[in-house]
Amino acid sequence: MNSTSLPPWPGDIGPVFLTEEQIQQAVNRLGAQISQDYAGKDLVMVGILKGVLFFIADLLRAITVPVTVDFLAIARYGPSEQTRGVVHLTKDLNEPLDGRHVLFVEDIIDTGLTTHFIMRTLRLRQPASLKACVLLNRNRRRIIDVDLAYVGFEIPDIYVVGYGLDFKEQYRNLRNIVKFEPDETAR
Ligand code: IMP
Ligand code: MG
Repeated sequence: MNSTSLPPWPGDIGPVFLTEEQIQQAVNRLGAQISQDYAGKDLVMVGILKGVLFFIADLLRAITVPVTVDFLAIARYGPSEQTRGVVHLTKDLNEPLDGRHVLFVEDIIDTGLTTHFIMRTLRLRQPASLKACVLLNRNRRRIIDVDLAYVGFEIPDIYVVGYGLDFKEQYRNLRNIVKFEPDETAR
């Protein structure tokens, strides 16, 4: 490498935590279960941009019953952990939810504040049913209890990036989910 070229990734990337294959296996398992549970029902999957991008795309294709998809975007207020859950919608859904079976799909649940807020918002739209599906559940730092119908993996208290998950908008395009280990001085 010469002095003008950048290394492919900064030194923050730690070891692979979940491989593409492990992720795909979990997605297939969840897709099969969801297909069984929602057969004959009007199913709409709702995701928050952007972290859920790859998970929801793969999950959709692992589902073998009719399904539609819609997206929300949110902005968070507040510098503290407690206020991080105070979010407002910056992009609303395109479809009404009343009378439909809604599955909220999320990449990772940490404190539970985001999911709690979104579930409350979705419930106000009077769906026939409302459940949550999450790829990664890190429950060590849970502040609000949330009911998760479908879980890909339980994970320990580590920060992860890749497969849609970011650190400051970077690393979403990694195929594996890897441990993020920033330089002490950079954090
Ligand atoms: P919660 O509101 O504390 O449950 O946080 C959930 C949100 O925080 C997720 O939608 C992610 O955007 C983000 N997040 C939490 N943990 C991680 C992580 O390990 N990597 C990337 N994003 C994360
Ligand atoms: Mg997210």
